[in-house]
Amino acid sequence: MVLHPDCAALEPFLGTWQGEGRGDYPTIERFAYSETLVIDHVGKPFVSFDQRTKFVDSGLPLHAEYGYIRALGGSSIEFVVAIPSGIAELHAGTVNDGLIELASTSIARTDTAKVVTEVRRRIVVDGDRLHYVLDMAAVDQDLQFHLEAELHRV
Ligand code: HEM
Repeated sequence: MVLHPDCAALEPFLGTWQGEGRGDYPTIERFAYSETLVIDHVGKPFVSFDQRTKFVDSGLPLHAEYGYIRALGGSSIEFVVAIPSGIAELHAGTVNDGLIELASTSIARTDTAKVVTEVRRRIVVDGDRLHYVLDMAAVDQDLQFHLEAELHRV
């Protein structure tokens, strides 16, 4: 499948990535997780983003999300992602030289979901290594660290 030309700057991110991450927030206990992330394309001007995580200790399923990074041409991108805890994030941002930077423009939640008001995502690829950091403002806390992970191409 030929990559859509608008996705050219996203090409370094394509692949199946696995590794481990850590999470924290003032209102919860620190935790460690393992992750598989599949970033794929179908020749259209977006890539799919399929993330699955598990607790390192028990191997039980943890967070998952599925979304799309929409390529607008050049370095401009948008990101739309759904989370089973009842949250949907919309982001705008850029991709340049293996760096994706996203800031939420809107966060929708179901009636029973936790209140999340802002999310920032930064994803860096250097060859076969992918590192990301996610900051969020949620449950009355200011924007701050929630997650980071180091993944490798498999
Ligand atoms: C790798 C992805 C993620 C993992 C492994 C993860 C893991 C966790 C864990 C273990 C907790 C504490 C237990 C719990 O409340 O369920 C938690 C809490 C939370 N996470 Fe995440 N999370 C991830 C991504 C996200 C994202 C993308 C968002 C926001 C859009 C988010 C928002 C929250 C919120 C709002 C809480 C609750 C904080 C509280 O109740 O005080 N998480 N997360």
